[in-house]
Amino acid sequence: MASTERPSWAPDAIDLERPNAARIYDYLLGGAANFAQDRAFAEQLLTMMPEARSAARLNRAFLRRAVRFCVGAGIRQFLDVGSGIPTAGNVHEIAQRMDPSCRVLYVDTEPVAVKHSELMLRDNDRAAAIRADLVDPDSILNSDLARRLLDFDEPMALLLVSMLHFVPDEAGPFEAVARYVSAMASGSYLVLSHGIEIARERADQVGKLYEQSPTRGVGRRFEDVERFFTGLELIEPGLVWTPQWRPESPEDVGDHPESAVIVAGVARKP
Ligand SMILES: C[S@@+](CC[C@H](N)C(=O)[O-])C[C@H]1O[C@@H](n2cnc3c(N)ncnc32)[C@H](O)[C@@H]1O
Repeated sequence: MASTERPSWAPDAIDLERPNAARIYDYLLGGAANFAQDRAFAEQLLTMMPEARSAARLNRAFLRRAVRFCVGAGIRQFLDVGSGIPTAGNVHEIAQRMDPSCRVLYVDTEPVAVKHSELMLRDNDRAAAIRADLVDPDSILNSDLARRLLDFDEPMALLLVSMLHFVPDEAGPFEAVARYVSAMASGSYLVLSHGIEIARERADQVGKLYEQSPTRGVGRRFEDVERFFTGLELIEPGLVWTPQWRPESPEDVGDHPESAVIVAGVARKP
């Protein structure tokens, strides 16, 4: 599809000329909701970071295991911020397969992600999507959809999966996460994954590449990511590379879990 061709599902508000994190990720996962600029960006990213595609898949696999863990722990409501473009094994599919009463609110800043989510959820009255920004928690927590789908007196899971590395410190991600955590009932979970700066030089190259997109990458170290869990109890095995988080089999971890590039953890609000 040429960058100037606007398919019928693409909202007018979207910028087709600039690559975007949601659509680059969709391309890496083999999806079709991306444009020429996103694909060119992703190919450039793959030359700098050949493991980017497997990192995206391993992240998605972590998300699936974490959602199953949460449902197993009694959670029936999910707030998924930075949810991305729907792809195989979405949160509501995994959760509602285990218990159809599960409710999911998806949130993303990217219009294509929200549009696709809305189309997919047309006939599902227990899941919905809104366009909003993580760093404006009140616009999400006080939205009509949040009031309809989520009960803040009951435990829930807040999913911030592979998205905080697009939110720079100056935008206030630590304060925003603390605000969500304070709104959640005791027994709630924070499910989080985050890209890690492994090699300074390469992180700089990738950071420069992302400057072309409205979602610029932020390099954080392991210790910085741990700060997001302040006041929460990290459950076993703690903050680890995505394939190391409760793998289904030892083979899934492989010899180089660090090539997953993304760390992941799940914590409980006491
Ligand atoms: C790499 S995708 C991750 C999608 C999904 N969470 C997953 O792990 O499969 C990152 C998503 O975060 C979204 N995003 C980036 N910054 C955001 C913000 N400040 N508020 C809400 N969503 C944001 C992007 O639009 C993109 O869809």
